[in-house]
Amino acid sequence: MAALRLEKCVSEGVPACPSLDSMPVAPLPCLRSLFAIPEDVCYLNSAYMSALLESVRRAGETAVGLKSRPWQVKDEHWFERVEQARTLFARLIGASPNDVALVPSASYGIATAAQNVPFASGDTVVVMQDQFPSAVYPWRRKAAGAGGAVVTVSRPADHDWTPPLLDAIDSRCRVVSVPACHWSDGAQVDLHAVSARARDSGAQLVLDLSQSVGAAPLDLTAVDPDWICAPAYKWLLGPYSIGFLYAAPRHQAGVPLEENWIVRAGSEDFSRLVDYVDDYHEGARRFDMGERSNFILLPMLIAGLEQLLEWGVERIAETLRQTNVKLETIAAHHGLRALPPERRSPHILGLEASGGLPDGLIPKLAEQSVYIGLRGNTLRVAPHVHVSDADLQRFDYGLGRALAN
Ligand SMILES: Cc1ncc(COP(=O)(O)O)c(C=O)c1O
Repeated sequence: MAALRLEKCVSEGVPACPSLDSMPVAPLPCLRSLFAIPEDVCYLNSAYMSALLESVRRAGETAVGLKSRPWQVKDEHWFERVEQARTLFARLIGASPNDVALVPSASYGIATAAQNVPFASGDTVVVMQDQFPSAVYPWRRKAAGAGGAVVTVSRPADHDWTPPLLDAIDSRCRVVSVPACHWSDGAQVDLHAVSARARDSGAQLVLDLSQSVGAAPLDLTAVDPDWICAPAYKWLLGPYSIGFLYAAPRHQAGVPLEENWIVRAGSEDFSRLVDYVDDYHEGARRFDMGERSNFILLPMLIAGLEQLLEWGVERIAETLRQTNVKLETIAAHHGLRALPPERRSPHILGLEASGGLPDGLIPKLAEQSVYIGLRGNTLRVAPHVHVSDADLQRFDYGLGRALAN
């Protein structure tokens, strides 16, 4: 019975996405052989942490070898790899390398933005209910310090965040700090509309794209955000503890969180580091974290970005969207309801049960080697290009077992 259902959903083809119809892209084939995921593991939790590509793992292993031979560490490892990573990320989002800084986490990126936003008594920051804490705590501190307020937009019953967000952005608003999709269930935000309203209100737009960059297209020119942050370990298929901050050219004279030596002009000349200078390297480089030249993480970061660029974000998004339509069909047979297609992002599938979810569902699924997330009352399913037809079968079977007992 389960196999029949699956055959139907796999073979019938998947309808075009209303919001992405115009994309002239074909999905990627199943690329499981590029990852080291055992055959019996159904990993659908990339929103928590993506599986490492084998190419990324190999790059890391080679880099560990270099660190054990420090006499071979050269200028290219100190400087060129940082620029390579910066350039690749810039290409991925359609920015200039000058607009990109290397940071250790989304929190660091948002803290940098918070440090540089003018804010006075009575000003507000608009965020979404249940937003990831990295994009809430810095604003709470900023607001508390200046006598302003964080305005939290309540979760709308119809999953359409855009109208209540637009309502909340008024003349007191100095910052709109939102993602492109809610981390808990993938509900999409219309960044074009939010950006236009923020701009009209004189507010800065700070985007936490941890849950979308690399998996969902972004029209940087049209959205024109002030700041973007994203760690590498999710949809950038990279390692943990490194990521990116985009700073629009209008903010590149800002104040970095730390004053590290390598972002100062002339830092390439190690013999003259104590000829202290006031100037920074060009553009957003002043916001780079200390020890940005991380000899182990950078090669991994670069390998992941190169692969993403080779596939193309539009193709990745279309692949994941089609996989999610299949997963949605399976979940529906088990009484789980997905967010409507026009409300959700291509790569994350939020699933709800009308009578609530049984306790212990996630560990029970893990017993069946099915890995998904639970955020609030929503099951969060986040596939990547390694998902195979066998995974769909395992998801079907695992859900049946986990919901039955
Ligand atoms: C929306 C969002 N932002 C940020 C993060 C991670 O933040 P940080 O890099 O500060 O640990 C996550 C992790 O799940 C997330 O979902």
